[in-house]
Amino acid sequence: MKFFADTSDINEIKDLKEYGLLDGVTTNPSIIAKSGKEFIPLIKEICEITDGPVSAEVAATDYKTMRKEADVLRNIADNIAIKVPLTQDGLKVCKELSDEGTLVNVTLCFSSGQALLAAKAGAAFISPFIGRLDDICFQGLDLIADILIIYDNYPEYDTEVLVASIRNPMHIIESAKMGAHVMTAPPKVIKQLYNHPLTDKGLAAFVADWEKTGQSIL
Ligand code: G3P
Repeated sequence: MKFFADTSDINEIKDLKEYGLLDGVTTNPSIIAKSGKEFIPLIKEICEITDGPVSAEVAATDYKTMRKEADVLRNIADNIAIKVPLTQDGLKVCKELSDEGTLVNVTLCFSSGQALLAAKAGAAFISPFIGRLDDICFQGLDLIADILIIYDNYPEYDTEVLVASIRNPMHIIESAKMGAHVMTAPPKVIKQLYNHPLTDKGLAAFVADWEKTGQSIL
């Protein structure tokens, strides 16, 4: 499973990279607003640090303006993935950019029918938002299962399932069990995967027992 960081925080991105946990980055207008930084220079900096795809989202919602914005964004770096909303106009932009060899991440997906449309438009990634479905009492993970079944039925679809709106480590584990290609999560949630009380307890016992030996490896 590829790990994307759902953040624009440069320090967090660098940190995940050092631990081998950074296969790409996703951003959205809310993440950029939270950063308080200039969008284009910030994305450029993230692209320089990140070896994999960096998703940068268009701001407009009409076809013509989205297309113009996408042309600006894809000139930032070779590893840009243009993020477009799952609307008719968004998928029109997706189809054109994909035909031209640009990676497109189709965002705000909440149904398997929408995911089918994104695959037909040639999206590199479909981003189903599972946390937001959980928030309204729908099983977000069920959507991942459905999309994977549909995509598996049609091997000609190259679209990767990028599980988004992840809120906890179980979202990552359950998505990985189903074979989702990519997940994007806040760095804090990714790091929660390290945690287990038995690891802490076991390590404390090993440290204490080693001290009793009075030995040193170095
Ligand atoms: O980047 C898209 C998605 O991951 C947003 O998540 O937590 O705002 O629902 P969230």
